[in-house]
Amino acid sequence: MTLNAPITDTPPAAEVERPTAQAISNFYEGMRPFWHPVLREADLSERKIVRVELLGVGIALARLNGEVRALRDLCRHFQAQLSLGEIIDLDGKDLVMCPYHGWSYGGDGQCERIPQLVAGRKIPPSAKVDSYRVTTRYGLIWVCLAEQPHFDIPDYPEWLDNSYRTVTMVEDEVTRTSSTRMIMGTLDDTHFPWVHEGILGTRDDPSPPEHKVWREGQYLVLQYEAEQPPNIATTDMSADGAAAQEKVKLVYTDYVGMPNVIRLVKDSVAGRYVVWLATCPNAYNRTTNFWAFSRNYDMQPDRDHAYEEFSAHVRSQDRPILESQRPWLIPPFWSQVELPLGPADKPLMEFQKWLEELGIVTQI
Ligand code: FES
Ligand code: FE
Repeated sequence: MTLNAPITDTPPAAEVERPTAQAISNFYEGMRPFWHPVLREADLSERKIVRVELLGVGIALARLNGEVRALRDLCRHFQAQLSLGEIIDLDGKDLVMCPYHGWSYGGDGQCERIPQLVAGRKIPPSAKVDSYRVTTRYGLIWVCLAEQPHFDIPDYPEWLDNSYRTVTMVEDEVTRTSSTRMIMGTLDDTHFPWVHEGILGTRDDPSPPEHKVWREGQYLVLQYEAEQPPNIATTDMSADGAAAQEKVKLVYTDYVGMPNVIRLVKDSVAGRYVVWLATCPNAYNRTTNFWAFSRNYDMQPDRDHAYEEFSAHVRSQDRPILESQRPWLIPPFWSQVELPLGPADKPLMEFQKWLEELGIVTQI
């Protein structure tokens, strides 16, 4: 397919159903030089190795001498999974030991112990597995598969601010979509009256707001005014007369930390409510979502469960729609596959254009 091809009524079937091997490879390559969240810090206990998958690559995570390390989950000897092994202590140094023949690796991936090595022989330098950049932030472990990340981990100031209460949501199951579609679906506001009727919008007023969209450093920023039904994400429901309001005026400012994190900031008279989503692209069609929700009103801890339930309900409304979208990956901007509508879809078009510039969506 070529750019500027005429729009046809029927997109090519194969492209709609599944991406080609080339499109998948473009997606993986394009996404490599970014930080991706892979696991909650709390889910990596001492002396435990956890396997995660990022961009189709299996990674063994472990705390070695107190530091989180990320190794390719594939032993250099006969390719067993290191994550099935255990952490051993060799002269005070923690190593990840393969379960098959006991080869053991340090945090830099170098093999430092081969039990079968004949006396007098040295461990060959090629006995090494890939190790990856890893760090922790916002309660999560983040990995970058490239030598140098293109951007820093996006900011989430409310997480660090004591004047906010934050609840988190961990989904048990992966979502059957790409992480870029997850971000696009969270940035999309014109679906509110349809998918979240009575919660984030009403169908008697489906007209799109006036979007202001711009780039700011590593962020795509979207701002608009909206009116939504009163609920805990727009209103302090404990305030007098809160529930009796018909609509609540608010301003949305959305920050997409390109290409895989989004922070929706909702400002209303109640205060600020923030939806934060960091996506882990396990594969081109499987995504793990890490959510957090911050508020600076209705601050009692025993109110947290109401916010957790509200968020889980909204999420359950979105999931089947997102999982139904094909192709799994976002197609190149202005391809024949989709029909974005200006100006309503401008934020999505801008996100898509930037993805294309980053090489995450490429013409094949
Ligand atoms: Fe890992 Fe043999 S496969 S030690
Ligand atoms: Fe939604």
